[in-house]
Amino acid sequence: PAGRPLVGKKVLVTAGPTAEPLDPVRLLTNRSSGRQGFAIAASLAALGAEVTLVAGPVSLPTPPGVKRVDVESAREMLAASQAALPVDAAVCVAAVADWRPDEAFGVKLKKGKDGPPQLRLVENPDILATLAVDNPQRPRLVVGFAAETNDVLEHARAKLARKGCDWIIANDVTEPGVMGGSENAVMLVTKTGVERWEREAKESVGAKLAARIAEALIQS
Ligand code: C5P
Repeated sequence: PAGRPLVGKKVLVTAGPTAEPLDPVRLLTNRSSGRQGFAIAASLAALGAEVTLVAGPVSLPTPPGVKRVDVESAREMLAASQAALPVDAAVCVAAVADWRPDEAFGVKLKKGKDGPPQLRLVENPDILATLAVDNPQRPRLVVGFAAETNDVLEHARAKLARKGCDWIIANDVTEPGVMGGSENAVMLVTKTGVERWEREAKESVGAKLAARIAEALIQS
C-alpha cells in the first residue's frame, strides 16, 4: 500500500556497541550511541516492515512497532541475528567490538603484588560477513556501515567486496559530532556507484535509507 511499501517484508537491524566482559564487573566497549541504527529501525517500521532490532547496551527507547532483542557481546549479537533469519534485508549498523578478552574471569580481578593483569584479546565473529557470505539464508539485501577516519571511499569500496554486502553506508567519524552525536554525513556506496548525502539528522539518514531499501525490495 502507498506509504507502507514494506508491509509483509522482514528486516534485521543491528545497532549500538557491543560490550565484552573481562570479569563480572568490567567490560570492553565503545562510544556508539545506537542512535543511527535505532533511527533506521524506526523508519523501516514506519514503512510497514516487520523489524527485529538487535541492540547492544544503549539507553534509547524502542521505536514503535519494532521487536527489540537486547544483547551484550558480539557473540550474543551474532546468535540473536541468526535467530531472526530469514529476513528480506539486513542492516548491520552496530559498532561490534573487533576483539574480546580471550577469557572472562568468573570473579572480579583484584589489584595485587603481581601487578596489572595482562589482557589477551581474540577476534570476534564478523556478523555482517557471516550474514552475507556463504549463507544459505542470505538476505536479499545486505547493508553494512563503515566508520572511517581517512580515505573513506577507498575503504568503503574495499569493505563492500571483503564483506560480501550489497551496499555500504560510509561516514567519516572524525567529523565533529558524528560518533555519538545527532547528525551524520554519509555516502551510499553500491557496486555501481556512490552518492553523497548532505549532513543531516540521523533520523533523516534513517528515513532516506529506509526508502531506498523499500525501492530495492519492491523491484526484485
Ligand atoms: O570492519 P568494520 O568493523 O569496519 O565493518 C563495519 C561493518 O561491519 C558494520 O556494518 C558493522 O556493523 C559490521 N561488523 C559486524 N561484525 C563485526 C565487525 C563489524 O557485523 N565483528
